[in-house]
Amino acid sequence: MQSLSAIVLAAGQGTRMKSALPKVLHRTGGRALIRFPLELAAQVGCSPVVVVIGHGGELVRQEIERLSGSESVRFAAQARQLGTGDAVRTGLAGLEGEEGSVLILSGDVPLLDLGTVEELKKAHVGKAISFLTFRPDDPTGYGRVVRRGDRVEAILEHKDCKEDELRIEEVNAGIYLIDLAFLRQSITTLDTDNAQGELYLTDLVERAGRAGRPAAAVEVDPQRVLGVNDRVDLARVDAILRSTINLELMRQGVTIRQPGTVEVELGCEVGQDTELHPGVRIGNESRVGRGCVIETGALIQGSVIEDGAVIRAYSVIEGAHVGPGAEVGPMARLRPGARLLEKAKVGNFVEVKNTRMGRGSKANHLAYLGDGEIGEGVNVGAGTIFCNYDGFAKHKTVLEDGVF
Ligand code: UD1
Ligand code: CA
Repeated sequence: MQSLSAIVLAAGQGTRMKSALPKVLHRTGGRALIRFPLELAAQVGCSPVVVVIGHGGELVRQEIERLSGSESVRFAAQARQLGTGDAVRTGLAGLEGEEGSVLILSGDVPLLDLGTVEELKKAHVGKAISFLTFRPDDPTGYGRVVRRGDRVEAILEHKDCKEDELRIEEVNAGIYLIDLAFLRQSITTLDTDNAQGELYLTDLVERAGRAGRPAAAVEVDPQRVLGVNDRVDLARVDAILRSTINLELMRQGVTIRQPGTVEVELGCEVGQDTELHPGVRIGNESRVGRGCVIETGALIQGSVIEDGAVIRAYSVIEGAHVGPGAEVGPMARLRPGARLLEKAKVGNFVEVKNTRMGRGSKANHLAYLGDGEIGEGVNVGAGTIFCNYDGFAKHKTVLEDGVF
C-alpha cells in the first residue's frame, strides 16, 4: 500500500469512567490506554501520527511525550467535542501535504493488534473507506452496519435508528482506513442533522457509497476491538490482557498457579522454569530470571530477580536487585537501591533500602537496613537497625566481610 498516516482520537471526555483523570490515561497491563494505539500505529508503519486531544489534553500530551519514540507524534487540539467527524477534521490539520490513506484509531481501544489492521489493509485496496465491525452481546449505543446484499450502505448511530434497524447485530468498531483525498473532500460535506447534533465520521460510509465507491467492512473478533467506556470495560480489558500475557509465559515454560490471579504487566520478563504462585504481581519493567520461585502475594515492581532466587510470600520488592540464588521473605520489604548479591538472605519483617548485601550475607529476622554497605558472609541479628537518619542528614553504615 502507498503511504499511510494515522489519526488517534483521544479528545472525548469519557464521562462514564466517572473520573478526574482523562479516560485514555487510565491504565491496563501497566500502561496508559493511549500508549496502545500509538504503539500499534508505529508497528503498522504509520507516519506521521496525529493525536487529537481535548479533555485533559495537556495531561494526555505530557504522558505521550514521556514515551520513547513519541518525538514524531503530532498533536491537534479539538476545542469542543463536536463529534468524531469534527475530531478527524481537526486531526487532518496535522496531515497537510500527506497522500495515501490514513488509519483512524481510537485512544480507548487497547487490544487491537497488527494482524487485525493487516486484514483491514487488505480489504482497503482500491476503496475510499474501510472499517472494522463486530457483533457484541449487546449492541446498545453502537453504530449499526447497514448492508444491502454484499454492499455496505451506511453506518447508522444507535440514537438515529428506527426499530427494525436497532435489530442489526453487526456494529461499527470505530477503526477506519480512509483514502486521504476522499477524506479531505467529503469531510466538508458532514452536517449535524442527526439525533445528537454531532458531526458523525460514520456518515462518510454513506457518502462513499453514493459516490460509487462502497465501503469495505471487515468483521473481527469482538475482543480485539473492545473499547473502554467505563470501569467495567476496563476490568474486561484487564482480564483479557492478563490472560494473553499469562498464556504466552506458560507456553514459554513458566509455571503459573491459578493464572487468573497472577498479573504480569507488559514489558516484564519471566524466565523458564520459574514458578509464580497465586496472587503474584510483577510490574514496571521487572525482570525475573530462570528457575525462581515467587510465592503467593509477592509484589515486584521495577526490579531484577536473578536466576534461582526465591521470593517468599507477601514480600514487597521495588526498585531492587536480587542476586542469583538469594532468598527474600516471607513478608520482607526491599526498597529502591536494595541490592542483594548471590545467595544473600533477607528474612521476615526485614526492610532494606539503598543497601548492598554481599554474597551469602544474612539478615533473617526483624531488621532495618538503610543506606548501608554489607560485606560477604555477614550475619545481621534480629532487631538490628541501621540508624541512617539523625533528623538532618543521612549516614552510611558499613559492616565489613565476616562481621557477626
Ligand atoms: C462511535 C461511532 C459508532 C461506533 C462507536 C464504537 C460515530 C458517530 N459513531 O460512537 O458508530 O459504534 O464509536 O465505539 O463516530 N472523540 C473525539 N472528539 C469528539 C468525539 C469523539 O476525539 O468530538 C473520540 C473519543 O475520545 C473516542 C472516539 O472519538 O476515542 C469515539 O468516540 P465515542 O464518543 O466513544 O464514540 P461514539 O460517537 O459514541
Ligand atoms: Ca459520542
